Amino acid sequence: MTHFPIQKFKDIRTPFYYYDTDLLTATLAAVREAAPEKEFCVHYAIKANTNPKILKLIADKGLGADCVSEGEIRAALDAGFAPEKIAFAGVGKSDVEIEFAIESGIGCFNVESMPELELIDEIATTKDKVVDIAIRVNPNIEAHTHHYITTGLKENKFGIALEMLDDAIAYCRRQPRLNLIGLHFHIGSQITTNEPFALLCERINEITDRYSAQGIEFSSINVGGGLGIDYINPDANPIPDFASYFDAFRKKLNRRPGQTVHFELGRSIVAQCGSLITRVLYVKDGLEKKFVIVDAGMTDLIRPALYQAHHHIQNLTSEAAETDTYDVVGPICESSDCFGTDETLPLTVRGDIFALRSAGAYGEIMASQYNCRRLPGSIIS
Ligand code: LLP
Repeated sequence: MTHFPIQKFKDIRTPFYYYDTDLLTATLAAVREAAPEKEFCVHYAIKANTNPKILKLIADKGLGADCVSEGEIRAALDAGFAPEKIAFAGVGKSDVEIEFAIESGIGCFNVESMPELELIDEIATTKDKVVDIAIRVNPNIEAHTHHYITTGLKENKFGIALEMLDDAIAYCRRQPRLNLIGLHFHIGSQITTNEPFALLCERINEITDRYSAQGIEFSSINVGGGLGIDYINPDANPIPDFASYFDAFRKKLNRRPGQTVHFELGRSIVAQCGSLITRVLYVKDGLEKKFVIVDAGMTDLIRPALYQAHHHIQNLTSEAAETDTYDVVGPICESSDCFGTDETLPLTVRGDIFALRSAGAYGEIMASQYNCRRLPGSIIS
């Protein structure tokens, strides 16, 4: 359970992110226990949180990194992730990004289209380098999550369709600069049951069996990320159930001898260790509602506005036994700038400090300066 140093918070300008590194360390230990290094290669999906101190803690545990831009590769390298453990994914890698990634000696390109394969081949030829390639396959699997974070359906822009995979594989095998090492998958994010992952394993087994029959083997399978967290009860479930998640793959994935299996976990590693700390500016009576107006807005944490997400709201300072019902809103000039409607909270007054919980993933990194606001800072325990 996260302990908030509330006395310390009182003197600090809000809003800011607070990270509980004990929880992060315990989470990383749980990942290691459930996925021993000899058995599985776990990468951290950098996009979830690139706070340098958080990155360093994760890199120090020997995880690999999943990156989607030159900036993310730079952040990973600066934090000490080994270049050969970096995978570079994304549907729109630019020429300069590909050049930079090749020069940095990253481990693998997760390639999402034929034209991208052609460009990587061209750049690798100019540089006289051979690059390791995994083809991202769109497995057409429903992840049962918010449609903005579903990635593995055929209408999504990601990956190469199963029907077009033969051509992509044949192309790689013809080009001496492209060393096809494996297949990459990622079906979506905030997935809270293991069924979609079991389905993914079945689909991967079908694909690898089909190619095996043609004498084509893959030395690496990357199953992506997506393991969800408990946004409703962060204190009851601070660490996701990594054991049953990795077990699903252990049981369902038909692994070939010598094949490495890669994971790209973002949210499940960092979400619960972070909270957005904000101060109550006003308690305002409306005609039908009471509004708590806090100094954090959608610019600091966009998930509620963008995905209708809900982060548990905790009043860290009120000691009132009595409660009231409030809409908790930010200062931004948009009606979607709302963290919660009809929230039952202890009686709240100006100056109270709130924690918006489970905000360690896709929180600080998605902050913007809309309305010319300053970016939220961060405090690491
Ligand atoms: N691998 C790939 C190829 C991905 O696209 C993603 C996330 C991950 C791994 C990591 O997924 P995770 O383990 O974190 O679920 N901003 C959204 C989430 C976007 C996820 C994008 N891709 C949110 O706040 O919910």
